Amino acid sequence: MRKIIIDTDPGQDDAIAILLALASPEDIEVLGITAVAGNVPLALTEKNARIVCELAGRPDMPVYAGCDRPLAHRLVTAEHVHGKTGLDGPVLPDPTMPLQDGHAVDFIIDTVRNHPAGTVTLCPLGPLTNIASAINKAPDIIEKIQEIVLMGGAYFEVGNITPAAEFNIYVDPEAAEIVMKSGAKITILPLDVTHKALVTRARNDAFRDIGTPVGIAVAQMTDFFERFDKEKYGSAGAPLHDPTVIAYLINPDLFTGRYINVEIETQSALTRGMTVADWWRVTDRAPNAYFIGDLDADGFFDLLTQRLARL
Ligand code: RIB
Ligand code: CA
Repeated sequence: MRKIIIDTDPGQDDAIAILLALASPEDIEVLGITAVAGNVPLALTEKNARIVCELAGRPDMPVYAGCDRPLAHRLVTAEHVHGKTGLDGPVLPDPTMPLQDGHAVDFIIDTVRNHPAGTVTLCPLGPLTNIASAINKAPDIIEKIQEIVLMGGAYFEVGNITPAAEFNIYVDPEAAEIVMKSGAKITILPLDVTHKALVTRARNDAFRDIGTPVGIAVAQMTDFFERFDKEKYGSAGAPLHDPTVIAYLINPDLFTGRYINVEIETQSALTRGMTVADWWRVTDRAPNAYFIGDLDADGFFDLLTQRLARL
């Protein structure tokens, strides 16, 4: 059983990750959800997080708003991928559950401090601004965090927002550098693995065939956000980036990777946000992250579809 905080910028793939986590109570206890600016501005990511919680039948889930801009750059968003609401595809009602008072960064700090050391996992699914801000404000939490399991970066797949960088890292490379140098236990699910988790037509039909409001909404979400990757990469469907983080917590045997050194480019305008992953161990830089390169895609989608059918 993992106790987790999901830090997120919904985003259709973030939404599916949240649904998977909430559908898996025997594996995961979601202590709270913290929203960050990323795919769309913070006012929308916090609203979308609440929309998804209500879709899952969890209006009790604490949702906090966090940082509305990166540490050192202006915000770059991704409406071209996720639509102007960030959750285009299904028509879902506005949330009625409240946004929690207090800042997401303080919720992260307080939650890690108030649980026994090594029992809280942080699951960032967007830019790392909230996580880095929590580490900066309360360095004592680093040794108490069980693990940071994040979606971000790339090595063989290189960039999706620039030729060199993946979106989450590109938006806030300074935050990513703080996290990567923190000394916390880190597992990374980069584009190298998420681009192998594609929602083919058959897999989308399996979501829709669940026949519930959740199944139908998920099918509509992936129908919408597959356009970008199909057009850019000729992909067979939408890459389910963020749900791989939750699936890794539930069944890590679905994934393979290497414990390597990963550094973040923060100085160059050309390669800002590049994750310089020493996959071939050609440097003497100390390993600092378990970098996932592959998955059992059919096993992943079977797990995801089975769990979504529970909601
Ligand atoms: O590059 C993909 C990542 O950026 C995903 O987390 C997606 O939701 C966006 O945040
Ligand atoms: Ca995301």
